[in-house]
Amino acid sequence: MLNDRSSILTLLQTRRSGKPREMVGPGPDEEEMAQILTAAARVPDHGKLFPWRFVTVADDQRDALALLFRQALSEEDPCATPAHHEAADQYARFGGSLVVLVSAPVQGHKIPVWEQELSCGAAAMNLLTAAHALGFVAGWITGWQSYSERVRQAFCGPGERIAGFIFIGHPARELEERPRAPLTTVWRPWTPPQL
Ligand SMILES: Cc1cc2nc3c(=O)[nH]c(=O)nc-3n(C[C@H](O)[C@H](O)[C@H](O)COP(=O)(O)O)c2cc1C
Repeated sequence: MLNDRSSILTLLQTRRSGKPREMVGPGPDEEEMAQILTAAARVPDHGKLFPWRFVTVADDQRDALALLFRQALSEEDPCATPAHHEAADQYARFGGSLVVLVSAPVQGHKIPVWEQELSCGAAAMNLLTAAHALGFVAGWITGWQSYSERVRQAFCGPGERIAGFIFIGHPARELEERPRAPLTTVWRPWTPPQL
């Protein structure tokens, strides 16, 4: 069973993202979104720098998002075909609610940017898990949109970048499991070096 919410551990062990392109609403209401983002902001964060931001895109702002993508794609990829534009338009209109996760590291701080980016990844993971705990599915995607300068400027301040677009809703069809790393391939006891 996927997304088994009978205990915290079963949820963690069976959590399965939803595919944004197959997601339908409704997404979380304002109170649920606040619960999800409260969990997302409660992550390990060396130096208490809060190096992440959550930008919510309202349902009635999807036209504006689609327009932004159209503009960005036209400017940044002169070879983009109508099919590319169509795909970008669909991305902007995927179902559920949309949170844009922004990585906002403090530059020049003694805490390395790498550690701050890891904290942002942890925020994404908590966000996903909290959404699933409330009975939604969530999906974290990037795509060219996360690397576009035009899109970055629409969501980020200087020195910030988009860590991903996280859609939260319900699956339009039954979720399927995907391959998982066999524990034996990712877990080994340490062998101390010969010194
Ligand atoms: C940083 C990051 C970016 C991702 N970008 C995409 C993407 O653009 N498109 C996509 O289909 N999946 C993307 N994924 C993968 C999905 O979010 C998800 O991890 C995958 O479908 C497996 O889901 P699950 O292990 O959470 O069930 C990305 C994952 C991460 C961590």
